[in-house]
Amino acid sequence: MIARNILAAIAATLYVLSSVPAFADVVAVIGTGRMGGAIGPRFAETGHTVIYGSRTPTSEKVTALVAQTGNGARAETSAKAIAEADIIVLALLWQATEDLIKANVDNLDGKIVFDITNATLKALQPDRNGAVESSAGELIQGWAPKSKVVKAFNTVGYHIVADPAQAGGPVTVPLVGNDQEAMERVADLVQAMGFETMILGGIEQAHVLEGMASLYFVPYGSGRFDEAFEYYFRKGTAPAGIGSAQVRGADSKKPE
Ligand SMILES: NC(=O)c1ccc[n+]([C@@H]2O[C@H](COP(=O)([O-])OP(=O)(O)OC[C@H]3O[C@@H](n4cnc5c(N)ncnc54)[C@H](OP(=O)(O)O)[C@@H]3O)[C@@H](O)[C@H]2O)c1
Repeated sequence: MIARNILAAIAATLYVLSSVPAFADVVAVIGTGRMGGAIGPRFAETGHTVIYGSRTPTSEKVTALVAQTGNGARAETSAKAIAEADIIVLALLWQATEDLIKANVDNLDGKIVFDITNATLKALQPDRNGAVESSAGELIQGWAPKSKVVKAFNTVGYHIVADPAQAGGPVTVPLVGNDQEAMERVADLVQAMGFETMILGGIEQAHVLEGMASLYFVPYGSGRFDEAFEYYFRKGTAPAGIGSAQVRGADSKKPE
């Protein structure tokens, strides 16, 4: 009986340890819409403390989200949330992002900015509200040059962020950014939520990930809400016959 109790105590301790992250961060989730409302609870569930940054931190909607999130979550103004957090998740409307970053730039120095925003390229959609010349990721890194911007999750619908099992199989989240350590840290956070990750390269690749969002926008833009795309990246191996010789320009970039 004593041995059985000891085994049960060990099992319980191992269970608790397995659900505690190696590091618990304070994460500011800026925006309490679909993405903020999906990602905040996932951070809390994986052991981190969430501070929502909102224009209306005491509203009924945000209070309900805080209660649903748990694990010590609270809501503040965006400025206060950013000042108190280790990691800042941009889950707000792209058009509001520049003002937010510029108003809080000093409190972003040295911090990870987890960028999930999407902007479309002006060259492809010149009339689209919020279309940009380069990419949201590059612009954000430029507005807050001392921060460590990591783009991730912009290719994943909010419903899959909330419940990756709905995808019916593994989903790989591509990451881009200039700081390797920051990308590895974000990769750990994303993996803890039940996703695979693949680090692609520097922030100059952000436009590639943001372009993927166009697959959602194009049917929505013409009002075809019953014809949405649902797509996922899934890590795999290149098919036989694909090597660096088949990738145009690969030879010129071969390391010495
Ligand atoms: N929806 C998706 O599946 C999905 C997937 C990938 C990426 N994204 C990206 O994630 C970001 C958020 O998308 P979402 O779908 O969560 O949008 P949403 O439901 O419209 O929510 C956006 C939130 O941004 C905040 N916000 C701050 N300033 C604002 C302003 N001036 N006007 C309006 N809202 C403002 C609001 O939170 P407060 O009211 O609390 O201030 C609002 O709830 C976007 O950049 C989007 O491109 C979305």
